[in-house]
Amino acid sequence: MRLYQPKDRQAIREICVATANAGNPIDHYFSDRELIADLVTSYYTDYEPGALWVAEHDGIVVGYLTGSLDQQKYDAIVSRIGLKAGLKSICRGILFHRSSWRFLLTILKTAMAGGFNKKILFDQYPTHLHLNIDRDFRGKNIGAKLMECFVSQVRQKDLHGIYAIVRSDNVGGCQFFEKSGFVRLSQHPAFFLSANKIFKGATIVLGRKISTACP
Ligand SMILES: CC(C)(COP(=O)(O)OP(=O)(O)OC[C@H]1O[C@@H](n2cnc3c(N)ncnc32)[C@H](O)[C@@H]1OP(=O)(O)O)[C@@H](O)C(=O)NCCC(=O)NCCS
Repeated sequence: MRLYQPKDRQAIREICVATANAGNPIDHYFSDRELIADLVTSYYTDYEPGALWVAEHDGIVVGYLTGSLDQQKYDAIVSRIGLKAGLKSICRGILFHRSSWRFLLTILKTAMAGGFNKKILFDQYPTHLHLNIDRDFRGKNIGAKLMECFVSQVRQKDLHGIYAIVRSDNVGGCQFFEKSGFVRLSQHPAFFLSANKIFKGATIVLGRKISTACP
């Protein structure tokens, strides 16, 4: 496990689009891979690379943990990234694809159901992370090791908690976090796509308190 280097950027973006749909590729429901990679990874690669950990196998990146140790900075920058990425995507012709409209509809339905109003207790959980491992390398303790790297960073900075957000249909992802000491804090309505159908699910916020007394 090691910290991110700029040469890892493309590998991270590729793992992102191959796993961002609850562990599966996004291509089944959305055509603009660049937009998803921009939205999901570019804050971490470009603005907080010091909290981005990668796992390598034979010199190839096979998984990553994107973390943020500074929620205020994240909040200040991420909406700007979203706007810029959205405009670039429109220029690439996203609005001419039927799948884009279905995807936008899931976002609209989630917003109307209040799914984006997550009340996260940032004073208790001031840091967050996302973890994505290449399908062929799951179940080999890589996620757990990346998590250890981030937890020790959080502890060193004297921060007291981490939160993560997982889709309710990502049962394995939820189990991984629960095994890693996270507890469920709240659940929020969300709409997702599967085989071109929109279905109602939820996003689950999980949190782990970090004791700074431990080594
Ligand atoms: C979830 C994910 C990060 C786990 O990483 P991993 O390297 O496969 O997990 P590890 O091998 O380190 O497993 C650590 C522990 O979690 C458990 N675990 C991991 N994946 C699990 C699954 N799908 N179902 C049940 N338990 C699971 C393991 O059994 C292990 O428990 P143990 O210590 O008691 O043996 C990885 O499967 C992944 O990238 N999934 C797709 C993306 C995703 O869902 N990310 C999480 C949401 S942000």
